[in-house]
Amino acid sequence: MALDLTAVHVPLRLEPIRAELAVSRLGNRFHYFEQISSTNNRARELAEGSAPEGEVVVAEAQSAGRGRVGRHWVSPAWANLYLSTILRPNLQPAEVPQITLMAAVALADTLESFVPVPPTIKWPNDILVAGKKLAGILTEVSCDAEGVDYVILGMGINLNYPEAMMPDEIRHRATSVLQLTGRPVSRESVLKRLIRDLDRCYGELEDSGFAPLAARWQARFGLRDRRVRVELLDQRIIGVARGIDRDGALLLEDESGARQRIVAGDVVPVET
Ligand code: BTN
Repeated sequence: MALDLTAVHVPLRLEPIRAELAVSRLGNRFHYFEQISSTNNRARELAEGSAPEGEVVVAEAQSAGRGRVGRHWVSPAWANLYLSTILRPNLQPAEVPQITLMAAVALADTLESFVPVPPTIKWPNDILVAGKKLAGILTEVSCDAEGVDYVILGMGINLNYPEAMMPDEIRHRATSVLQLTGRPVSRESVLKRLIRDLDRCYGELEDSGFAPLAARWQARFGLRDRRVRVELLDQRIIGVARGIDRDGALLLEDESGARQRIVAGDVVPVET
């Protein structure tokens, strides 16, 4: 029978993590909820109320967890990590995708220590292992006349989530650390490491700009130079994925050989 850790209600212990992160810019304060609609919603309310950069909202379960393009993020209790971090970057609105890509690099770095094969990134922000989704990122931004006011960086990570417990809609395309290793993982260890990696990568973006992070993102880009189909709202384009530009747009060489910049959409590999 599948090991069902969702049945064992062991709350996250955040205080020891906060104490260890005292010197880092992120994770100095956690807002903890056993159940919430969406950590991104709560983080946005806090940011609107002038919460400083670095505060993190964590929940054991979400009743209305959101993914990209209005999708639902399946968020069962006690098994996984659902968190949203408030950032106040000194960037122009057009540069905000750099935050998502930076976060994907940090998240892949973190998860690499917990899974048997290096995670890859699927543009723009999915973390995959063996072709299945292990984690996702949802970035939401608020801008004013001066530039970016705040960014909410939401992350959902499947950890102790047995495939047998996943709903049919995601079972064939999602995975978890438990599924990949056969062993449960300490959610606190992953969270602590993640906040450290995020803090490091966010600092690098600030100090050295996007280019070094973009290079690391490209190294993890699983579909580089592969034939892909890009699904846009109203059309599909077939081409070869060539990487990203400095604004985080996907560069696609279409069938006529022209380069297209894709700023939103889903990328699916196609067999040649
Ligand atoms: C995606 O892959 O489409 C993004 C998924 C992001 C899910 C996380 S879970 C924590 C945070 N709160 C939400 O409602 N969504 C993000």
